[in-house]
Amino acid sequence: MENEYKWWQSGVIYQIYPRSFQDSNGDGIGDLTGIASRLDYLRDLGIDAIWLSPIFRSPMADFGYDVADYTAIEPMFGSMEDFERLVEEVHRRGMKIILDYVPNHTSEDHAWFREARSSRESPKRDWYLWSDPASDGGPPNNWQSVFGGSAWELDEGSGQYYYHAFLKQQPDLNWRNPQVQEAMLDVLRFWMDRGVDGFRIDVIWHVIKDRELRDNPINPNHTPDQSPHRKFLEIYNVDQPEVHEIISMMRDVSDGYEDRVLIGEIYLPVERLVAYYGEKGTGVHLPYNFQLVELPWDARTIARTVNDYEALLPEFGWPNWVLGNHDKPRVATRVGPEQARAAAVLLLTLRGTPTIYYGDEIGMTNVPIPPDRIQDPYEKNVPGLGLGRDPQRTPMQWSGAKNAGFTQGTPWLPLGATDLNVERQLVEPDSMLALHKRLLELRRREPALSIGDYAPLEAGGSLMAWVRKKDARVLFVVLNMGDEPQDFDLSERNLEGKILLGTHRGREGEWVENSVTLRPAEAIVVEAD
Ligand code: GLC
Ligand code: CA
Repeated sequence: MENEYKWWQSGVIYQIYPRSFQDSNGDGIGDLTGIASRLDYLRDLGIDAIWLSPIFRSPMADFGYDVADYTAIEPMFGSMEDFERLVEEVHRRGMKIILDYVPNHTSEDHAWFREARSSRESPKRDWYLWSDPASDGGPPNNWQSVFGGSAWELDEGSGQYYYHAFLKQQPDLNWRNPQVQEAMLDVLRFWMDRGVDGFRIDVIWHVIKDRELRDNPINPNHTPDQSPHRKFLEIYNVDQPEVHEIISMMRDVSDGYEDRVLIGEIYLPVERLVAYYGEKGTGVHLPYNFQLVELPWDARTIARTVNDYEALLPEFGWPNWVLGNHDKPRVATRVGPEQARAAAVLLLTLRGTPTIYYGDEIGMTNVPIPPDRIQDPYEKNVPGLGLGRDPQRTPMQWSGAKNAGFTQGTPWLPLGATDLNVERQLVEPDSMLALHKRLLELRRREPALSIGDYAPLEAGGSLMAWVRKKDARVLFVVLNMGDEPQDFDLSERNLEGKILLGTHRGREGEWVENSVTLRPAEAIVVEAD
């Protein structure tokens, strides 16, 4: 029965930011050998797959999201042998490995771009997006870089501008060019041939832009606290209809291999997000659903969001949920350490594939970064708006040892309060880590939680409640997102049963009927009788 479902449907994904997971050679930067040394931890935690942010050769202008060679490992992270060993060790433990595929742009140091910029006549000129200046000599249109300023950079040598949705060191590829398509699809083949189980695809909704380069309209709702690129509505530079043709090419490649997954990074309203499953399911398997990252922690808002999302999914569309990633503030900082426990229950008991961001399982928070230690180009280009991403990228905190056991050298980013660490939480039965282990273990034991049906239960105030059901097995979850105790009436819903798991451990095994009181930030998973 269970194997009608794929591993990426029933399983749990764990995102590793390689620079920050484990350093093995004392240079203060995490690496592949470091990751390999922590695989037993991940297996014992109970996750099914790891996704590594980019590990390819890169000058690191955007910390690996500027790729200079898609088929070479960045020496800072290790060698191809280290990578092969890592794949083998992941698989030996029954887990999967997902890499990060960055198709929208290369590094300016990529051989393709060096060739393309060498002259207007270069055979690779058309691999990137070039345009003559506007009549006043300025950029061809008003498109803005996500990281600040015009998205067009003048190439003095040839007198033309090239387009870069992110840094000027990250020129966008021209995916309308068939040679680009072939070269980039080969990258997928290269890694899948080496046993990689899937890809997270970077900014996939950016890949095709308006052919006519029309100006974006002004955003009437822009406020100064928002990133300056939001001054314009992104109508013509992203989410163009032809992007789905490109994605289906990637999907065809992946379908030529057994049991692989494609996950798309897409920040769009959910009505447009669901189009990325593709017509008849020829898109990505999982268009990343970031609603829990972006919405306020409010029970009515989140309950409505979950129900709307479930309703909008195409019949072949498998859901997924995310609480955090390397681009967004940590969940424990957004909602506070207590509600972060309830959030873990939410993430791991909703219907859909969850992705856990490294460190969230121990409740790591954003770490304040002193000005002289800022690394992220986003913060450097657009300072002071809290957009910088260093605070959520700080080293994993393993132990009470020097630098929390992350490195023998000087860590590339400062660490948070190091009493918050794995070693300590492993022996504390009420720790965030222990909660995650119990949740992941319960999820593995109860197919109702991983692949079962979902149905909302009416709830008011700061409560959210729902049912998960597989065959005759029925579980229900009640969660209090507020800071006051709340009663949940069970009798009017004809529910009773035994608590299997709770954020507050003392309650496990308790029988509940008639009514149950949830403390602030409390969540319970109940086996219905
Ligand atoms: C994605 C990545 C982000 C990166 C950007 C440009 O959004 O997650 O970290 O800066 O793409 O590649
Ligand atoms: Ca290292």
